[in-house]
Amino acid sequence: MDLNLRGRSVLVTGATGGIGQAIARVYAAEGARVALTYHTGRERAEKLAGSLAEGGAAEVMTVRYALEDPSSVTSAVAALERWNGPDVLIANAVRWGARRAPGQRLWEVPPEQWEPVIGHNLAPTLRTVQLAVQGMAARRFGRIVLVSSHVALNGHPGQEFYGAAKAALHGFCRSLAWEAGAEGVLANVVCPGLTLTERARTGLPEHIRQAETARTPTGRLSSPEDVASAVAFLGSPANGNITGQLLTVAGGR
Ligand SMILES: NC(=O)c1ccc[n+]([C@@H]2O[C@H](COP(=O)([O-])OP(=O)(O)OC[C@H]3O[C@@H](n4cnc5c(N)ncnc54)[C@H](OP(=O)(O)O)[C@@H]3O)[C@@H](O)[C@H]2O)c1
Repeated sequence: MDLNLRGRSVLVTGATGGIGQAIARVYAAEGARVALTYHTGRERAEKLAGSLAEGGAAEVMTVRYALEDPSSVTSAVAALERWNGPDVLIANAVRWGARRAPGQRLWEVPPEQWEPVIGHNLAPTLRTVQLAVQGMAARRFGRIVLVSSHVALNGHPGQEFYGAAKAALHGFCRSLAWEAGAEGVLANVVCPGLTLTERARTGLPEHIRQAETARTPTGRLSSPEDVASAVAFLGSPANGNITGQLLTVAGGR
């Protein structure tokens, strides 16, 4: 199936991460112009941009985007004006929260520990959408994919605040579908399950990986490419009329 992405401009936030890189690769392979955001990984972003350009991407740029820096959020979206975009926004960046100390209970987590997990993930992501959707509505085309997490659906010990920040995206998306649907803008949420990014491959204890795999109907955990292909379909003209939906990519869980 042709995703019809040639020449479309795509902003992928968190493009230096495991899932973000895979998403960027799909869009580049489909002939889109791709803007890659980085936070600390400028060199990684430039290396990825080089490899996408060599692989035949229409155009690639790298853009700084820090969830805690509102001016970088504004300038990242504005950077795509030179491509008359963005046509597609993939809101994928995440600021991982400080893990609870061993034995620390929910009520012992001080606000200064958990408030940034909400404040630095949720509000800047919504602001990014706000900035991008205005131009999309004016051009009467847009696709938005918000990358959430299975944690928002099923919970996970110790991840209440991360789960809350992600779950809020689902509520936002349902109403966003109403706001811009008639102007050709479709917005959806993709919920990856535990995904075997480089970070997970190296950081995940083997017994947890085995237990998670055993609980997965397909008998394997998702790869970043599994997530990326779902994101790219929803975030493309091939998605003709799906909006306000939530798609889980977790091997049937
Ligand atoms: N991996 C999983 O198992 C899994 C499961 C469910 C959901 N997800 C979701 O999938 C998305 C991608 O996850 P991932 O596993 O690919 O993460 P990752 O490899 O840790 O990458 C995180 C990305 O976010 C960027 N980032 C980190 N802090 C940031 C900040 N303060 N401001 C702006 N950007 C920031 C990083 O940029 P730099 O590298 O340049 O610093 C990187 O590009 C996230 O939304 C995550 O919640 C992942």
